[in-house]
Amino acid sequence: MSTHSRTGKIQWTRKHLIGINDLSREEIEFILDTAQGFEEFSTRSIKKAPPLRGKVVVNMFFEDSTRTRNSFTLAASRLSADVIEFTEKSSSVSKGETLIDTARNLEAMGVDIVVIRHSAGGAPKLLTRCIHACVVNAGDGYHEHPTQALLDVYTIRQVRGPLDGLRIGIVGDIAHSRVARSDIYAMTKLGAEVTLVGPPTLMPARVQELPVKVSHRLDDVIEKLDVINMLRIQFERLGGNPFPSVREYSRFFGLTVDRMKRAKPNMLVMHPGPMNRGVEIESEVADGPNSVILRQVSNGLAVRMAVLFLVNQAATQETKEK
Ligand code: NCD
Repeated sequence: MSTHSRTGKIQWTRKHLIGINDLSREEIEFILDTAQGFEEFSTRSIKKAPPLRGKVVVNMFFEDSTRTRNSFTLAASRLSADVIEFTEKSSSVSKGETLIDTARNLEAMGVDIVVIRHSAGGAPKLLTRCIHACVVNAGDGYHEHPTQALLDVYTIRQVRGPLDGLRIGIVGDIAHSRVARSDIYAMTKLGAEVTLVGPPTLMPARVQELPVKVSHRLDDVIEKLDVINMLRIQFERLGGNPFPSVREYSRFFGLTVDRMKRAKPNMLVMHPGPMNRGVEIESEVADGPNSVILRQVSNGLAVRMAVLFLVNQAATQETKEK
């Protein structure tokens, strides 16, 4: 747990980032403020700072990824760490080595931070019990994707100011989305009102236990929203067919130019990527004036620099105290 110092500022003491559900509002804001400090980096001609010099970060990705992996790699190298890229297909995991053995072997080479993406929810948490290195969750099953949620709320705060009282819609395949879950925690902890929108078959089990409203009709809610976050249908995770046809889904839940006419003129349009243009979002909207989709990607870098910086700081502090 991170604790408050006497001045009221947070003293960051977490050496792992597993989920937003674990964090307090103050901790989330502290990460966002730290990220703000790193944001100006991207505008410098020399984009390196020394905080992780001599440290080793391993990117362990057991699932495909473009944005998240590259963003972590770049974030770690901007902080001067050495980065090992680990992919399941080219590793001994394909020869039957377990996740824990793989991680222990990497740790034996002196790895300080493990960034892990895994299809099994709980894999990052499991690692924290088996290795001494810091663990950062880059997406685990349907569970959480904390750095995506942090970059989402960072982007909203950057454009619209504090999230208190903002109405945010998260639309689409909520059931299979770790982004939705982490977003719900981050956005509501920062004071926003979240409405989940999608067909009943794509709502998570026990949705009533989450601090959100639910709607099955985008047309009923679009006029009220300040921010809309469109999710991809995670076809690779769907066992059966959750709706009659993709075209029908788009007709009811797609963010089209036509629907945008009924939204507030300054409604922010977000998407974590990868986008399925023409399914959940029309190209003109994805590339339109309300879209902050590429800004989300840029902000991801600053947010991940902040996370790597903070977990490393907590680990260094822990070693000093021992
Ligand atoms: C998401 C993920 O992998 O959970 N993508 C991402 O990290 N930007 C969402 C998705 O795959 O649809």
